[in-house]
Amino acid sequence: MNKPTSSTVILGTGSYLPERIVSNNEMAQIVETSDEWIQTRTGIRKRRFAAEGENTSHLAAAAARRAIEDAAIDPSEIDLILVATMTPDMPFPSTACLVQSQLNLPQCTAFDIQAACTGFVYGLNIAASMLQSGNFNKALVIGAEKLSGILDFEDRTTCVLFGDGAGAAVLGRSNTPGVGIIGGIGGADGSNPEVLCQPGGGSAIPPTHDSLDQRRHFLKMNGKEVFKQAVRVMNQASTDLLKKTGLAPADLSLVIPHQANLRIIDSLTKRLNVPTESVFINLQDYGNTSAASVGIALDEARHAGRIQSGDHILLVAFGAGLTWGASMLKWQE
Ligand SMILES: CC(C)(COP(=O)(O)OP(=O)(O)OC[C@H]1O[C@@H](n2cnc3c(N)ncnc32)[C@H](O)[C@@H]1OP(=O)(O)O)[C@@H](O)C(=O)NCCC(=O)NCCS
Repeated sequence: MNKPTSSTVILGTGSYLPERIVSNNEMAQIVETSDEWIQTRTGIRKRRFAAEGENTSHLAAAAARRAIEDAAIDPSEIDLILVATMTPDMPFPSTACLVQSQLNLPQCTAFDIQAACTGFVYGLNIAASMLQSGNFNKALVIGAEKLSGILDFEDRTTCVLFGDGAGAAVLGRSNTPGVGIIGGIGGADGSNPEVLCQPGGGSAIPPTHDSLDQRRHFLKMNGKEVFKQAVRVMNQASTDLLKKTGLAPADLSLVIPHQANLRIIDSLTKRLNVPTESVFINLQDYGNTSAASVGIALDEARHAGRIQSGDHILLVAFGAGLTWGASMLKWQE
């Protein structure tokens, strides 16, 4: 066992978006909707959909390869793979195991995290704890989704909102104290699972001809209820983590929120009282990619030059469960 040091840092990031771009106008050819409705209510202009045969594990592995290259480490140093997803290739084995094989990483503990859209943030916090235990040296945390596979393209209230993609980060330890992932927080409330769920296909409603006919294997959502909860928990998680880390909103160089709806992000921006320029938004291009969204946004923010050494960055997400979580980074190059 290696002796733990005081910090867990992000050594590299990567993301992967499938090639196929689907505009709002194309969605309007599938369901009764319009570019105007989708943009006004959500901020989304387009999304990406994976190709047939391009599964969540492939998206995850592609993002991971980029993160490993960015971290400039020997892949064989990775001994922990966490894949956050609610659209695994199959119920088991885990998508993390499939990624282990695709990346040919010989010595890994690998498992999936099911925390819906909060998955990447949960993953960072869990991996940081596991690295600090001294039992693991380098972790690959990936958020990856092929949501197009569980969307009901007869339900305009949900299918226009989501997209496919993957975001990844390589984590390691640093001897410099007080850098990297300097705090994390998480929460869950499973008392109302039906507000956002995939009811069929599990042990409660196994796949049958009937359950398929009733379209129960598709994502279902009460959008209004989720909206209300999202606004509340995003703000709560952010303020709780600021308090825990002894920081004020004015200390934040960048906020990277889960990319679900521009109106939810605007409400967080106002409640936290941070300038709009310090909030990263890319949902116009990808829609809601669930567990992938924060990872993709973190990678894009870095490549857009929005992150400098020493910056405090707040990552905050919510998702089905209900789950919520936040991570505070003090970026170190
Ligand atoms: C889904 C969401 C965009 C809907 O926005 P809204 O302002 O609440 O809209 P409503 O559900 O009240 O629907 C308003 C009207 O638009 C209609 N509508 C719904 N989807 C539509 C679409 N894609 N195109 C056109 N009209 C649509 C509704 O049928 C309704 O019509 P009605 O008034 O005649 O009944 C919003 O509730 C939301 O973003 N919720 C949170 C979702 C989320 O973040 N999920 C991910 C969690 S990780």
